[in-house]
Amino acid sequence: MALTSYGPLIGAIDQGTSSTRVLIFASKTGELITYHQVNVKLIYPKEGWVEQNPNEILQSVITCLSKAVENLKALNINVADLKAIGITNQRETTILWDKLTGKPLFNAIVWLDMRTSATVNKLLANIPDNDKDVLRPQCGLPVTTYFSALKIRWLLDNVPEVKAALKEKRCLFGTVDSWLLWNLTGGVKGGKHLTDVTNASRTMLMNIHALRWDEKLCSFFDIPMSILPEIHSSSEIFGYINDGPLKDIPISGILGDQQAALVGQMCFKQGDAKNTYGTGCFLLYNTGSQPVESKHGLLTTVAYQMGKKKPVTYALEGAIAIAGACVQWLRDNLGIIKESAEIEHLANQVDGTHGCYFVPAFSGLFCPHWKPDARGIICGLTQFTNKFHISRAVLEAICFQTRELLDAMNHDSGIPLKSLQVDGGMSVNSLLMQLQADLLGISVVRPSMPETTALGAAMAAGCAEEINLWNMDPTKYPKTITDTFLPTISATERDKRFQWWKLAVERSLNWKL
Ligand code: G3P
Repeated sequence: MALTSYGPLIGAIDQGTSSTRVLIFASKTGELITYHQVNVKLIYPKEGWVEQNPNEILQSVITCLSKAVENLKALNINVADLKAIGITNQRETTILWDKLTGKPLFNAIVWLDMRTSATVNKLLANIPDNDKDVLRPQCGLPVTTYFSALKIRWLLDNVPEVKAALKEKRCLFGTVDSWLLWNLTGGVKGGKHLTDVTNASRTMLMNIHALRWDEKLCSFFDIPMSILPEIHSSSEIFGYINDGPLKDIPISGILGDQQAALVGQMCFKQGDAKNTYGTGCFLLYNTGSQPVESKHGLLTTVAYQMGKKKPVTYALEGAIAIAGACVQWLRDNLGIIKESAEIEHLANQVDGTHGCYFVPAFSGLFCPHWKPDARGIICGLTQFTNKFHISRAVLEAICFQTRELLDAMNHDSGIPLKSLQVDGGMSVNSLLMQLQADLLGISVVRPSMPETTALGAAMAAGCAEEINLWNMDPTKYPKTITDTFLPTISATERDKRFQWWKLAVERSLNWKL
């Protein structure tokens, strides 16, 4: 069968915290042809613990791949047109498995998990002034519960199966990309144990200047380097799918999901930035070929490296743990809504929160505070407050947290952002986007095709050497159609509300159990 007008196709596996999707793009037009989505369960075994079943994650990917293939067939498109696949994934989430049996040694410890607070304190007890920024010069990150090294340490200390597998040299570590790659390329029958620079930069074990696992960092956490995957660029052939309807298709791109969104939004120039609204919320600012060390609580991270011999690009990142997760909390814990999308309708029933502020510090507060013991609070309640005000306060909380990130970003970069490119599942909520423009005081620009994370992974896969379907020149991609939201409130009003938010955050930070 001849190629359709779409030209060769490129797929993306987008394994996020709440769901897995496989999306297929046309390389000629950049058009999204089809996709399939499966939700993935989060497990909360104890307060502060967040886990997922690695086999369920893997199975969700396999299901999405075969459903996407069925969709192609139903559209009368030849599956052989699919030339490459990229992986993008929730970052930091940590999986240890047995390389002889292929079985996970424990559940995946999800990035939101707080069980390592005591490990953090223990490690910092030996550091002058308990300085959590002690490793920033090497890895760009503060010592907190968020990153993989702490989670690996916990697994090595607490899980007998892990201890035994380590002793018998059967134990492998991977972030979700590595776990998927190893399994999709053969598993126990020769699966590739690799990762890319962006995912490796979230473990705290990679030196972000040398782009290699760092002996000093590994020895700080007492993690054996033998369990770590090999680090590669974000765009090269990592291996070939070894089974199923896509057998022999190359996996040629891997990017952490936030970095993939930066690429999908074409933020290739120094000073370009995007904010993605998913389970959490992540603002990444391209700092070019130089890593910039944050003085305001942001993270320094690898943005991408599009090929083995290509230069590396860095980013400053602001990470908020709870964004869409708070809407899920309204749905699952309070039952105020049945579907997440309903929040827009509820919040639109009122023209303000009437002084109600919601600080969703369910996993402590990430950037710029880094306070694991902060607690969620709803304050400013009166007899008049109802579910509409609370729903609106949840949306405002996401916007205020983004304002905190933007302020930190503007201070660190010295060049205030004039407009913000946005994407992610929650960005379809137009009220949220309008509130965001109002509370930032700059324009908010949303692409009409919101799947920028998957597009970024597909772009990395398509531009890999030996694939050569796409290049990274933004002028070669179709022009993105966007919606722009402009601020509608005065600077005085904006600042007044932000001061109230800060008072609420103070209370959240100082809450003592
Ligand atoms: O760092 C965690 C992040 O990668 C999770 O992204 O899209 O699942 O909120 P998301």
